[in-house]
Amino acid sequence: MKIAIIGTGYVGLTTAVVLSYLHHDVAAVDKDESKLTLLHARKSPIHEPGIQNLLEEVWHTLRFTPSVAEVVPEAELVLIAVGTPPKQNGEADTRHVEQAAREVAQVCLPNKHYTLVVKSTVPIGTNQRVAKVVESVFSTRGIRGNVSVASNPEFLQEGLALQGAFYPDRIVVGANSDEAVDTLRRLYKPILEQTFDPPSEFPRPSSYHLPPMMTTDPNSAEMIKYAANTFLALKISFINEIAGLCEEVDADVTEVARGIGLDARIGHRFLRAGLGWGGSCYPKDTAALLGVAAQSGYKMPITEAARTVNFRQRERIVEKLRGTLGTLKGKIIGVLGLAFKPNTDDVREAPALDIIRELLAEGAIVRAHDPIAIANARRALSEKHGMDNRLHFIEDVYELPYDTDALVLVTEWDLYHKLELRRLAKQMKTPILIDGRNVYSPEEARAAGFHYIGVGRT
Ligand code: UDX
Repeated sequence: MKIAIIGTGYVGLTTAVVLSYLHHDVAAVDKDESKLTLLHARKSPIHEPGIQNLLEEVWHTLRFTPSVAEVVPEAELVLIAVGTPPKQNGEADTRHVEQAAREVAQVCLPNKHYTLVVKSTVPIGTNQRVAKVVESVFSTRGIRGNVSVASNPEFLQEGLALQGAFYPDRIVVGANSDEAVDTLRRLYKPILEQTFDPPSEFPRPSSYHLPPMMTTDPNSAEMIKYAANTFLALKISFINEIAGLCEEVDADVTEVARGIGLDARIGHRFLRAGLGWGGSCYPKDTAALLGVAAQSGYKMPITEAARTVNFRQRERIVEKLRGTLGTLKGKIIGVLGLAFKPNTDDVREAPALDIIRELLAEGAIVRAHDPIAIANARRALSEKHGMDNRLHFIEDVYELPYDTDALVLVTEWDLYHKLELRRLAKQMKTPILIDGRNVYSPEEARAAGFHYIGVGRT
């Protein structure tokens, strides 16, 4: 199938590479010159396990271009995967989605049928607006167009994007036209039937079952995306709230999560207590959902509470430092991890950034390490007021603890699971480990000489 994809961010590029691998004829459009330069040199602009190799594998069939006009007319299906950044009030800004739809409609051939699919995460009702945008362009052009608009939300998890694309739990399609549903079923046939040869880096999991393709109306499809993300966000916030109480009553939240997770109705996943969620989705999507609700005058106290609990986790970690060190002024704190989660260099809404800002505000000196996210963190932390000279980025994790008063583990990178704790503790002024992700058992850390403080366990 001939496909045009507008936008080569996480969603657009992953989709382009995977659909090419499945032998579709894909062209991806992006206006960002720097991204195109990288892509034309066969380099992935995003850090995502496996994407570089797969990009090289499909490179001879996958096209990248800045021009919508060059690729859309001949396409059968056009996917919009552009960003929907948050507005000042938290609502998602759909300007880029509508602009993409406008540009697509301007070059569609009269009478040829296209399926225009919105993959970006968008507020409920956007599909209907996109259909209107397309119609109004056609009427200005004085042509009869034939475009079916559909919603196909993306559930991509950074760090696991390709795994999730080849072996999704489900595919959700919101459309009012049978033709659009049929086109999307043909598009995803190799995934729905698992007829492709798995890439060597992504073997088919032995327990994997064929995924359902759920079809529904566009508004419900758009709501599914927000509801899924909000539910996962509040599951994490729930266990974090329980963790706080565990600390008060001397219970262990990891044991509690194990116990409640054994109930099949609850399940084990997304019950890891710690520093909570960051990244480009949960903070933005929960705020956007509240924005949608506010427009209808509807209150969503559960979603609001999930956010409050989440951001409180960051403050609680700094409180724990204060609790052990007294004042933080002049203290040297080592921060392990800057990315919002492992296997990505993404620092958007990362807990580490808020924690570092707070430590600096209280007069501490910060030494920070991350395997790959230092460049992005440096940029994000110097954006508004320039770089604070009390913030130092350290490339070698074993140099981080030198002379520090405490270490805070913020991101649970694999590397941090296997640290030589004794070696770290020896270099510190006072060997205190605040484990924001419960990576180490208190016994193990204490045996290595640390004063250990985790989340939700004493
Ligand atoms: C999420 C959704 O998983 C994905 O389906 C959607 O398309 C986009 O948003 P992502 O933001 O990449 O994906 O991250 P995810 O793996 O879901 O984790 C989000 C955050 O929650 C991370 O900061 C992680 O550290 C945290 N988390 C996750 C916990 O604190 N505890 C958990 O048990 C699980």
